[in-house]
Amino acid sequence: MNIRRISWQRWRMNRGNPSPPTPLPQGERGGRIRELLANAVLKLQASSESARADAEILLAHCLQKSRTWLFTWPEKEVDSTIATAFMRLLDERSKGVPIAHLTGQREFWTLNLKVTPDTLIPRPETELLVETALLLLPSPLEGEGLGVRGYSLLDLGTGTGAIALAIASERPDAHVIACDFSPAALAVAQENAHAHHIRNVQFVQSDWFGALPAQRFSLIVSNPPYIETDDPHLRQGDVRFEPLSALASGMDGLDDIRHIIQTAPQWLEAGGWLLLEHGYNQGASVTALLRNAGFQKVRCLPDLAGNDRVSVGQWLQG
Ligand SMILES: C[S@@+](CC[C@H](N)C(=O)[O-])C[C@H]1O[C@@H](n2cnc3c(N)ncnc32)[C@H](O)[C@@H]1O
Repeated sequence: MNIRRISWQRWRMNRGNPSPPTPLPQGERGGRIRELLANAVLKLQASSESARADAEILLAHCLQKSRTWLFTWPEKEVDSTIATAFMRLLDERSKGVPIAHLTGQREFWTLNLKVTPDTLIPRPETELLVETALLLLPSPLEGEGLGVRGYSLLDLGTGTGAIALAIASERPDAHVIACDFSPAALAVAQENAHAHHIRNVQFVQSDWFGALPAQRFSLIVSNPPYIETDDPHLRQGDVRFEPLSALASGMDGLDDIRHIIQTAPQWLEAGGWLLLEHGYNQGASVTALLRNAGFQKVRCLPDLAGNDRVSVGQWLQG
């Protein structure tokens, strides 16, 4: 008895007695799941450090099933059309195309977001921005009790809408404006809002603050481009396939962060917060920029890997 069957029996014991899997489309045989995955790993291991996971995600995507379903049914025969589609995706992956571009989606916070080559692929470390924003905002219950309703938030450079949509989904009483200068990215963000029935986000095409409606915000959040223009990482891995305008920001990577820090005070309410994601080696520079601009309570927060990742400051002057 192999390990996957043991897992299946444990799963049955834990979950009761589930119905058998829905049959796959009938047709010519394309191979068993176990063999398809084993061959895929051989094909990908020279080009990907996550060959096994990549193969599982892509096959699950072709079958429109979960990865757990693959572990549960390793002996299942796959239809040849699906096997051919899987081979095509493996070819693309072996050329370096990101998994999120092949599946067209990426999980962020609690949301499954559409991703295209026009958008940055949301990163797990960006969830720290969402967590920090939620800590600074009144909880929905506090909002009720204190009568603090109608607070407003700005997400600068929204891409897929990841940050704005995550916060808006947790704080339906917040009014969120999400901007990007890329119309293509904004279209994806709007689709994501629609798909998740999130209605408290307004999307604006704007070069940073340039075209925003005149108002002040309780909180401004941004994951702007922050990579040095000549950083060799821009020519490696997934980032080769992402828009350069979403990634690079001048010789020291801080051009956009400098602009946002200098301009944000005109857009913040008294007591409002600015939250910025930045590179692991930019914490000292970003906190210095915030202090020099007159922000108070400046702090740099580490991500789960322990790297400096988010800096925050409060604007008290109003
Ligand atoms: C690092 S990506 C972040 C995307 C998204 N917020 C996320 O965290 O996944 C930076 C975003 O800023 C946008 N951007 C770059 N320059 C901009 C500008 N001058 N004005 C507005 N948005 C800009 C890019 O199009 C991109 O979507």
